[in-house]
Amino acid sequence: MKILIVGSGGREHALAWKIAQSPRVSQVYIAPGNGGTFYSKVIKNILITDINDLAKFAIDQDINITVVGPEVPLSDGIVDVFRSKNLKIFGPTKSAARLESSKDFAKEFMVRNNIPTAKYSTFTDVSMAKSYVQKEKLPIVIKADGLAAGKGVVIAQTIEEAYNTIDDMIGENENSLKKVVIEEYLVGEEASFIVMSDGKNIFPLATSQDHKRLKDGDNGPNTGGMGAYSPANLVTPDLHCKIMEEVIIPTIKGMSKEGNTFTGFLYAGIMIGTTDGSDKWVKTLEFNCRMGDPETQPIMMRMKSDFIDILDHAINGTLDKAEIIWDDRFALGVVLAAYNYPENPRTGDEIKQLPLEAENMMIFHAGTKISNGLLKTNGGRVMCVTALGDSVKKAREIAYDTIAKINFNGMQYRKDIGWRAIK
Ligand code: AMP
Ligand code: GLY
Repeated sequence: MKILIVGSGGREHALAWKIAQSPRVSQVYIAPGNGGTFYSKVIKNILITDINDLAKFAIDQDINITVVGPEVPLSDGIVDVFRSKNLKIFGPTKSAARLESSKDFAKEFMVRNNIPTAKYSTFTDVSMAKSYVQKEKLPIVIKADGLAAGKGVVIAQTIEEAYNTIDDMIGENENSLKKVVIEEYLVGEEASFIVMSDGKNIFPLATSQDHKRLKDGDNGPNTGGMGAYSPANLVTPDLHCKIMEEVIIPTIKGMSKEGNTFTGFLYAGIMIGTTDGSDKWVKTLEFNCRMGDPETQPIMMRMKSDFIDILDHAINGTLDKAEIIWDDRFALGVVLAAYNYPENPRTGDEIKQLPLEAENMMIFHAGTKISNGLLKTNGGRVMCVTALGDSVKKAREIAYDTIAKINFNGMQYRKDIGWRAIK
C-alpha cells in the first residue's frame, strides 16, 4: 500500500514513522514533511500543500489511504475534496471539523446534546462582552472563536487583562477573529482523550496528558503543547467509562443525528475535578478533530499493533472489528522549542548533530528543515524527544539524558514533563 500523510509537525513525523513499519506498506509520502522525515529512508517528503494538488498527487501515485494530521486542511475541506474524487482519506468533513474550528459551534453542540462543559456565553460586541465579564468571577477564560494553534485562549486573572483580551479578539485589531467565547474557569486536572471513529463505531486510543503552558510548574503562556506522556493513569477505568458515556458517545451520536457524521480522530480535552469530596466530574474543555501534538508521539511509540490494519477498518466502517495492543511501558515526550516561542519564534538556528535513536528513544522532528546540507530550526516547536520506560520517571530520565546532547541557539524546553504523574 501507499500512504500519504498530510502535515509537517512532530505528530505527522510520528504517524509516518509508525505507518512505515507496517509490512503492508511499500511507501509513505508526507506533504510537506520536515527535516526529520527528509532524513528518513522510508518516508518521502512531497512539497505540496494545496488541497487540489494533493488530491491530484494521490490520484497520480495511486495512494491507498491519506491521513491528515493538522486541523487547517480539515477545516478547509480536504476530506470533502478527496471523497468527491473517490479517494480514501481518514478525517472529518469541513462541516464536522467545526467541532474544532469554531468554539461557538462546539459549545452550542455540547449544550444541545447534554455534554458536560464549562458555563459560557458568546459575544461579537466589545461592550457586551465586557459587561458580562464584570458580573462573572475571576479568573475567567476568553477564547477566540476560530483556529489559533492552541494559542487563542487567555485565562484572565484581572478585569484589565480580560478587557484587553476582548479588545484584542473582537476590537479594532485588523487580524482579530471578531467573536469570543467567554467561559467559567474550571479547576481540576486535564487529560487528552483521543478516539477514532468511522462515523458509527468508536475506537479509543491510549490516554495521555499534555503540558500546555510554556514554563515549568504550568506557568507562562499557553502553547500548542510542551510535552506529553501516555498512559495518563489519572483516567482510571471508571473515569474512562464516564468520559465515553458522557462525552464521546453523545458526541459521535449527536454529530450523526445532526447530519454531520464524524469520521476521523476525535480528541476531547477533558477537565477532571471534584466538588466537595464527591465523585469526580468530567467536563469538556475543547474538541479537536485530529490527533494531539505532542500526544501522538508517545501514543505512537506505545502502539504495538499494525496501525494500517486499524486505519483500514476506520476507512471501511468496521472499527468494531479492530484490535490493538499497547506496549505496557510508559512513553514520555519533551518538546524542544525555538527562541521566542510561542510569541514570535526565530527560525534558522543550526541544530548540531543529533544523538542516535534507539528502540526506546525517538526524536520526532517538527519545525526543522535542511538548508545547504545543515539541519536548521524552521518553526516554533522544533522537535519532540520521546522515550519509553517502565515508569514515567524512567521514560523521563531517558528523554532528558538525550536532550542533554542536543543543542541549538535559543533552545527552550520544560524540565518537569510528567510531574503530576511522578508526584
Ligand atoms: P482549549 O484550546 O479550549 O483547550 O484551551 C487551551 C487550554 O486552556 C486548556 O488545555 C486548558 O489548560 C485551558 N482552559 C481552557 N478552558 C478552560 C476552562 N474553562 N477552565 C480552565 N482552563 C481552561
Ligand atoms: N496538544 C494539544 C493539541 O494538540 O491540541
